[in-house]
Amino acid sequence: MALTRTYLVRIICGLVLFFSGCTTHLNNDVDVKNEIMQVASRFATGDKTGLQEIEGGLSDSEVYVFKSREGQRYVLKKGGSWPGRDGKLMELALHKFCSTNGISPKLLYVDDEKNPKIVVMDYIDGKLLARQDFYNEELLDNIVKNLRCLHSMPINPTFKKRTLLSELKASVARVKKKNLALPSKFDGWCKYLFELLSKLESTAMVQCHCDLSSRNILIENRKKVYFIDFQCTLRGNPLFDIAHLLYKLDLNDEEILRKILRKYLGREATTAEIKRIFFYESVAAFIAGQFRLQWLKNTTTAELDKFMSQATISSSHYLEKGDLRKKEFQTLSQRDKIEYVLSFFKDFLRFGKEAGISFNEEVDRD
Ligand SMILES: Nc1ncnc2c1ncn2[C@@H]1O[C@H](COP(=O)(O)OP(=O)(O)OP(=O)(O)O)[C@@H](O)[C@H]1O
Ligand SMILES: [Mg+2]
Repeated sequence: MALTRTYLVRIICGLVLFFSGCTTHLNNDVDVKNEIMQVASRFATGDKTGLQEIEGGLSDSEVYVFKSREGQRYVLKKGGSWPGRDGKLMELALHKFCSTNGISPKLLYVDDEKNPKIVVMDYIDGKLLARQDFYNEELLDNIVKNLRCLHSMPINPTFKKRTLLSELKASVARVKKKNLALPSKFDGWCKYLFELLSKLESTAMVQCHCDLSSRNILIENRKKVYFIDFQCTLRGNPLFDIAHLLYKLDLNDEEILRKILRKYLGREATTAEIKRIFFYESVAAFIAGQFRLQWLKNTTTAELDKFMSQATISSSHYLEKGDLRKKEFQTLSQRDKIEYVLSFFKDFLRFGKEAGISFNEEVDRD
């Protein structure tokens, strides 16, 4: 009898401890959520106390790290002027999908679901993806698993309009509006590229990340892979994400390319698929080039053509060092600035050739 009473007391104590533990945990969650909300609301009024800025890349978004009272780190990101509201809704939808599926930092706060500007997410204590990570079988598996998961996001009909082609067209139109000097073949390249892309838009289209690079993939504990920065997401061919990633990491290893495609497709890639990757690497180089053209001031079409015809550095020279940030670009000499921007168009032509497309010849033929 005494023994039964002792057991009963132990069970009751255990239950009390268990439930008090749960309550503390629940309170903690609520406390953390409140704290995050307070930090974000203060930030919205311009108060950056306790926030430490992380230097971003090309966009004008702002990224900060802050610590909660419990010492946990979080990331606060304020979107920039681009993309507009539709783009930001698309970005949020993809981040939510990836967060729910554990392939991006957990999304913890959004200031306005209908017009998102500020988000808070978990801080990933890891490192940025590097080229040698592709030679680690487990990491490669995890990168491909993340890609397959990201591409499985159900297509939201309201986002159907924003495709790789529609945004590239819009971006080129913005560049042209600025009346800058452009290479003389620029319009012809665009015409031919748009034609090819529009033919491909009738093929499989998924929600792509569209900006996979070493800066947008985090590795935790040498194996867990997280995608971040969904700002560029658009509908497109899934092979574009793979090509973009390989291009941005300057990974020119056909064996690795075949391995990635084998893991992604679940079978050997066809010659047409390998060529498609080269085509999309060419597209990725063109996107990078046309965006950077607006940084070039005080030049002429004749000067750009002259540099285009000379054998200059390829963009891999910059990409292998993690590419230049806009601030670093400003410190270059005028000659190096031109060489840097044109290097992307040289790679556009080079990858085009690997895909069996001679953009220059097509332009000359017209
Ligand atoms: N959740 C996170 N955990 C850890 N580090 C992060 C996280 N989010 C962002 N970072 C770091 O901040 C950098 C910039 O973040 P992000 O890519 O979201 O912003 P961005 O301004 O769009 O940058 P970019 O223009 O370079 O793409 C990342 O490259 C990464 O180093
Ligand atoms: Mg980024």
